[in-house]
Amino acid sequence: MNKRIAPHKLNFDTGWAYSPAPESIDHVHIKDQYKLFIGGKFVAPKAGKYFNTINPANEKVLARVAQAGATDVDRAVNAARGAYDNIWSKMKPAERGKYIYRIARIIQERAREFAVIESVDGGKPIREARDVDIPLAAAHFFYYAGWADKLNYAFPCRTPQSLGVAGQIIPWNFPLLMAAWKIAPALACGNTVVLKPAETTPLTALKLAEVIEAADLPPGVVNILTGDGSTGAAIVNHDDVNKIAFTGSTNVGRIIQHALAGTDKKYTLELGGKAANIIFADAAIDQAVEGVVNAIFFNQGHVCCAGSRLLVQESVADEVVFKLKERMQTLIVGDPLDKNTDIGAINSAAQLERINAYLDLGQEEGAEMFQCGGKNPDKGYWCQPTLFTNVAQSHRVVREEIFGPVLAIQTFRTLDEAVAKANNTQYGLSGGIWTDKGAKIFNVGAKIRAGVIWANTFNKFDPTSPFGGYKESGVGREGGMHGLSAYLDLH
Ligand code: NAI
Ligand code: MG
Repeated sequence: MNKRIAPHKLNFDTGWAYSPAPESIDHVHIKDQYKLFIGGKFVAPKAGKYFNTINPANEKVLARVAQAGATDVDRAVNAARGAYDNIWSKMKPAERGKYIYRIARIIQERAREFAVIESVDGGKPIREARDVDIPLAAAHFFYYAGWADKLNYAFPCRTPQSLGVAGQIIPWNFPLLMAAWKIAPALACGNTVVLKPAETTPLTALKLAEVIEAADLPPGVVNILTGDGSTGAAIVNHDDVNKIAFTGSTNVGRIIQHALAGTDKKYTLELGGKAANIIFADAAIDQAVEGVVNAIFFNQGHVCCAGSRLLVQESVADEVVFKLKERMQTLIVGDPLDKNTDIGAINSAAQLERINAYLDLGQEEGAEMFQCGGKNPDKGYWCQPTLFTNVAQSHRVVREEIFGPVLAIQTFRTLDEAVAKANNTQYGLSGGIWTDKGAKIFNVGAKIRAGVIWANTFNKFDPTSPFGGYKESGVGREGGMHGLSAYLDLH
């Protein structure tokens, strides 16, 4: 144990608290009500139903959003089919690329507006929306725009053919970024799209519909339907959809895989995770602790590839846990629009309930729980960063995806034990290795059964690099050239 630092508590109320630094919101316009974006126009849902999307940091209603029913899904798929048959599949690939570039540029121009809306609709800190979500969304459109007229070079000696209409269903943790991950490669490969954002975070997808209008895309090439799981199911089960791309929970992924079995629809599923961050004794400990904070407390732990398990070599375990607790006391939980905020609001009441159930369960299972005891704002949904120590491999808080700022810490003695523990999971989306030795990175990296392994860093994304899971973390890859083949028939 590092004896030099006394285990004190930093008091932000009386001490050196940061002054509030709220992001300005004057430039942001959210309408009271949003319709469905079908065939290049905003149209009312047939059944006339709407639902509210709220700001999870203060529980205020931001807008009323249309609930698309099966008839609306049918209209959107027909619009996408018409646009595919008559325009998009026949257009010169370089022309398609120009439209995608245009979307990328408009997102960049409106980046500040997108960042604020992402933050208020979903609860994430503005710093993250501004520095991660929005720039990466634009980067995905730029990257795939470049591929539109180079598909023959991406797949030499093959004949890449578009698939037709892609149905795309996305979650609430990275709303605009997930829309970009799905739409950009689909369009570059010559497909048209029906996209459904998550019910708690529909607003940036609807803003994207405005961008698509402004970019003058031919009507029907991209259709955006808001709604709940029943809307998603209607897209999955529509006969005239050729490909389904889904990101979300493993449970819904399983339902979708069942529904698609026996059909000729192509599909990719990006599902849950329970990634292990492994800290070896030879690692730069302060850097590793910062990496762990980023891996699990980033975006309130609402990250499928979050490092929600920590495996730390026994000889440095006390030091790591001590430093982690120290660092946690300096994390600022609160107003997502404040530029100093590290941990924003939990996305919804339902998600907070799920996380809290795991906090109870972990303690019932005999784990030791650590929280800093910071005060939550009066309104909204909040969870203080949490550690569980004294956990066993059989504990549910070690095995199941919690999707909140909750870290389970285990120790190991040997490299083989670390690998065995890291792989002892139904998931396999990502992993992290912290060590001073390059050889150890390659050795352990090759043995961890997960789609992405970060070394001496975590949660770094780039449009050129493929992303996807082993085991119950999913089927297929998105991103990079791999992401193209998910939207093509390759003869
Ligand atoms: P979810 O998987 O239900 O929602 C994801 C998307 O799927 C949403 O757009 C939803 O409307 C849609 N959907 C729901 N049921 C559907 C169905 N039968 N057919 C087609 N689409 C459907 O996730 P939820 O309920 O919001 O979160 C539950 C848990 O799932 C979280 O606690 C977390 O553990 C996990 N999750 C994982 C994500 C990831 O990126 N891996 C993202 C979101 C949630
Ligand atoms: Mg919302």
